[in-house]
Amino acid sequence: MCTKTLPYFLSGSVVKGFGRGSKALGIPTANLEDKIVDALPSDFKIGVYYGWASVDAKVYKMVASVGWNPFYKNEKKTVEVHLLQKFENDFYGKQIKVIFAGYIRSEQDFTSEEELINAINNDIAVAEKELQQPCISAYKDDKFLKE
Ligand SMILES: Cc1cc2nc3c(=O)[nH]c(=O)nc-3n(C[C@H](O)[C@H](O)[C@H](O)COP(=O)(O)O)c2cc1C
Repeated sequence: MCTKTLPYFLSGSVVKGFGRGSKALGIPTANLEDKIVDALPSDFKIGVYYGWASVDAKVYKMVASVGWNPFYKNEKKTVEVHLLQKFENDFYGKQIKVIFAGYIRSEQDFTSEEELINAINNDIAVAEKELQQPCISAYKDDKFLKE
């Protein structure tokens, strides 16, 4: 479904998270700097999104989590972007541009890391499908990602 409240465009530099994404989950995430997270509209919905992101003007599919990671009980809200491609290096200090194109689900608590991993893998499958919709796919060519 093509929503009316989205897309939402965001850009900022990548900072270190807790490092659990790569290590514990095998799902690395690029965490956005605090000032960008703090500037999100207060009614920006917490949860999991799919869309497009770019680093160094290269565009990738992405899934992102916005919120407090209830499974890890974070005290600070984070925006974490997982690019649907394997990378050898991390992106700390780099500028990332993100287009939130669609909403998948609210954040959940889980009883094991395995359940969290399964949920994220399911999010990735949803994203792969939804990103093919013409009205969503078109955002990958948006000049915002390439400037
Ligand atoms: C697509 C996606 C969905 C996520 N969903 C949840 C969730 O439902 N509940 C949760 O506690 N954390 C969720 N997370 C956040 C992970 O817990 C987080 O990425 C992980 O703890 C790594 O954080 P770190 O980079 O600060 O180490 C999600 C992350 C991604 C990328």
